[in-house]
Amino acid sequence: MQAIEGRRILLGVTGGIASYKTVAVARQLAQRGALVDVVMTRSAREFVGAITFEAVTGRAVHDALIAEGHALDHIALARENELVVVAPATADFIARAAAGRADDLLAACLVATSAPVLIVPAMNDRMWAHPQTTANVARLREIGYTVLDPAVGPLASPTEGAGPGRMREPEEIVEIVERTLSADASLAGLRVVVTAGPTREPMDAVRFISNRSSGRMGVALAAEALRRGAAVELIAGPLGVPVPHGCAVTNVETTGEMAAAVRDALPGTDVLVMAAAPADFRPAHPAVAKIKKEHGVPALELERTTDILVATRDARPPGCLVVGFALETEDIEANARAKLAAKGLDMIVGNPAGEQGAGFGSETNIVTIIARTGDAEHLPLMSKGGVAAAILDRVAGLRHGR
Ligand code: CTP
Repeated sequence: MQAIEGRRILLGVTGGIASYKTVAVARQLAQRGALVDVVMTRSAREFVGAITFEAVTGRAVHDALIAEGHALDHIALARENELVVVAPATADFIARAAAGRADDLLAACLVATSAPVLIVPAMNDRMWAHPQTTANVARLREIGYTVLDPAVGPLASPTEGAGPGRMREPEEIVEIVERTLSADASLAGLRVVVTAGPTREPMDAVRFISNRSSGRMGVALAAEALRRGAAVELIAGPLGVPVPHGCAVTNVETTGEMAAAVRDALPGTDVLVMAAAPADFRPAHPAVAKIKKEHGVPALELERTTDILVATRDARPPGCLVVGFALETEDIEANARAKLAAKGLDMIVGNPAGEQGAGFGSETNIVTIIARTGDAEHLPLMSKGGVAAAILDRVAGLRHGR
């Protein structure tokens, strides 16, 4: 995604320990070509020097509403920037923002801007849990600001840290900034369910059979659907890649659990994308305990698992668009078309197994997209993000009757 190259971002920093991590945010944004204007509150300067932010952004840092006797043009700063990010946002800053105060440069910029606002809280877990903070955050969300929930993890004080309060990691913040700046509304208002990854079928208490799926394709689809404004639920087997921030995640282990989760998710769903590679077979008689070697080599009798797309067909709401995948080693188009018909799909994405640059674990894919009513489209080798965009372009087209 080159969404942020040349884009103007106002990065507000308030006085929390986590502000040292905001240096990494500023640095990553600047490395991707964004023009980052850092605005620090007075207390933020107690934690990190302005010079550090100047070094990583290559731009002057702003910190005073009145500089050298002149009113600093906070209106211009607020207008020129396309996104305002406040990270960390302390309880005090959140309270000031919720009250609409304009008593320092950052608060004034917030009131003066019409750009989208992303607030990334960081505070002690008790302060986050306080009803006053809850009410302030609710107010900010009502105004239309995006307020991230803090993470659970070690807080500044070594004796605290049971509850949420920790600032989201720089990588996540940068990912959300990229998505916000590149957002389009082609799936806005829609609920999209994506399945991803393999499933595992237990053989005994410690062993399972599975496959090499990493979940990368499904995760790319979830991220792309979020970028297009959809509400996304990701139903995930054990993944080898991190899930995108902002989707609801249901973790499952077996194909049966994934089938149940898909059935539960289907009411109200507009688009179902089955990108998962559920295990098709499972041990017929899994042992409860660990199978011991001294009893010899066990015979492994397998049985079929549920075909999720077929088994949940009756639960699809009217008008729900269903996209499947077909992983094939030969005759991709013919096999994919047969699966499209057998599983009652609107679109199927055929991809070759075992080919260089495609399939499980690869960063790229080579796909053939076949809509129920159309010709096969053979796409060249692309990143999985690019493939996700191509698939969802066609989904948006079908939704809008094109
Ligand atoms: N799928 C499913 N339930 C399964 C297996 C697969 O719903 N138990 C879905 C996949 O998520 C994919 C589509 O069905 O969207 C096709 O999966 P694929 O593995 O290509 O085909 P299979 O149906 O498993 O058939 P085969 O193994 O014979 O190729």
